[in-house]
Order: sequence, then C-alpha cells, then structure tokens
Amino acid sequence: MEERNGTIILDFILLGDQYLLKHSTLLFALLLIIYNLSLMGNSLILFIIKMDSRLHTPMYFFLSNLSLLEILYISTTVPIILAISLGHDKTISVQGCLVQIFFMHFLGCSESFLLAAMAYDRFVAICMPLHYGMLMKKSICFQLAASCWVSGFLEAFVLTVLTSKLTFCGPNKVANFFCDIPPLLKLACTDTHTTETMLNLAVIMVVFLPFSFIVMSYVLVITNILKIRSAKGRQKAFSTCAAHLTVVSLFYGTIIITYFSPASGSASNKNKLVSLVYTVLTPMLNPLIYSLRNNEVKEALKKVFGQKCVTLGTRTIA
Ligand SMILES: *[C@@H]1O[C@H](CO)[C@@H](O)[C@H](O)[C@H]1NC(C)=O
Repeated sequence: MEERNGTIILDFILLGDQYLLKHSTLLFALLLIIYNLSLMGNSLILFIIKMDSRLHTPMYFFLSNLSLLEILYISTTVPIILAISLGHDKTISVQGCLVQIFFMHFLGCSESFLLAAMAYDRFVAICMPLHYGMLMKKSICFQLAASCWVSGFLEAFVLTVLTSKLTFCGPNKVANFFCDIPPLLKLACTDTHTTETMLNLAVIMVVFLPFSFIVMSYVLVITNILKIRSAKGRQKAFSTCAAHLTVVSLFYGTIIITYFSPASGSASNKNKLVSLVYTVLTPMLNPLIYSLRNNEVKEALKKVFGQKCVTLGTRTIA
C-alpha cells in the first residue's frame, strides 16, 4: 500500500500500560501460560469433537467453530502483548495497526454472532424439540455459522476502511496493548464523525442485538425448563444451558465494561486490565467451562484418549 496523501504519522507506538508493565516479567509469564492453555484447550475441543461421532450434533458443530474463532482471535492479539511486555519494539505501522483492527473486529464480531446462533440452537432444542431435526439440519447449521463469519467480515471491513481514511498527525503514542478504533479516533486530525457514527452503529448491531437475542432465548428456555416435570430432565437441560450462559456473560460482560464504563476511552488501569482479561482469559475459560460442566465431553475425552492409549500400546508391542 502506498502512503496516503496527508498521512503525517506512519507509525504508532504502543505503550501498553505503565501500571501493568511495572510487573512485566510476571505479566509475560502469566500471559504465556494463559495463551498456551487457551491454544491447547481449544485445540483439544476441536480434536475431541472431530474424533467422537456422538458429538457430531449442531451444538458441538457451533462449539468447534467457537474454539476455532478463539484460537485465531488470541493469535492476532496475544503475541503483540507478549512482545510489549518483553520490552520489544512497540512500533507498529499504520497499516499494521489497521490489519490488527480488522482481524480483531472480524473475529470478535463473528464470535458475537456465533454465540447468538448457539443460543438459537439451545432455544430450538428445548422449546421446540419436535422440530429440532428439521430446523437444525446440517445444511442450515452450516449456513448459520457461515453467515456469522460473513457478517463479522463485513463489519470489520467497513470499520477498517473508514478508519484507514483518517489522517493521523500525532502524537503517535497509544496507551494500549493493541490497536483499537477508539484510541485511534483520539489521535486523528481529520473529521471522525462518520467513523464514530458507524462504530456506534456497529456496536449496536454486533453487541446489543445478539445480546438481546440471547437474553430473550434464554428467558424462553428457562421458563420452558421450569415446566419440565422430572428433576433429572430439568437438571440435564439446565447444565447444557449453564455452560453457554457462563461464556455469554463473560464475553458480553467484559465488552460492555471495556466499551461502556464511564472511564471508557481514558487511560484507566481498570479498563486496560479488563480488556486484557477479555482478550486472553475468556478463550482459556471456554474449553474449561464446556468440558468440566459437560458429561458428554468428559465421556468423549475418556473414549478418545482411552482408544489412543490402546492403539499406541498395541503398535509399540507390534
Ligand atoms: C465452522 O463453520 C464454517 C462455516 O459453516 C465451516 O466451513 C467450518 O468447517 C466450521 N469449522 C469447524 C471447525 O467446525
């Protein structure tokens, strides 16, 4: 890409956060551990779901898509945060920044829509069990997941193009661990009105719409569960939903704190800590929450690894 006319700043300097960087070794070690656990946990989920045919249901299809998204998401953000906490080159070109913004929004928005699709899946399973097979056909699940990715792509594309049209004249220091649109808006010296409006619109479409949809689905799901006569049936329905609800609250809770707390935009430590947690901790917790709370996954784990040990054993003997 060539230099755009009037672009005075060509590089940003990511400062991270003074407070958190006081403990940079600890930060680095913790992030590295969490990053690896997230990669392993989510890869394990992908692997288990692929291996066990009993998990070839819509719910696990969406779950494997979620794990894939999380692996990609942390891989676009965490390596840079690690480099910053090591005190490495914190300079990132404007183009590099835009690429990062694009991927963060693409993957984050796709995840938001995917969580809504997962809520819809639970809603159909519990409130319309007789139509489940028809409403959640393989082809429909596939299209639902694909449309989550496409919507995420479109949102990210529009916002990134709009941000790329801005001119930045300095200062070029961003008090954050990664590039994001709000801090860049503050550094722009051209009119940011359109970009800001579109950003707000995007937040409504990507955060509030799916979130309201999810809340509505679960209100219906829970009222339906309460009608179940047998305590065992009720418990089973609750446990699958509880896992999903935990992930949903973590995901939206942290976004809402990051983007909407009163101090949002200012260089507050609390916000930066929250967005860091949102970036690295949530993807680590998802596989834990799903596998610890879920007997089907536990069974599958036992089966897959039991088999693997046996086959490995016989091979060694042979
Ligand atoms: C995720 O969804 C897409 C689109 O439907 C599909 O092509 C892909 O195979 C899915 N990936 C996983 C790991 O489930």
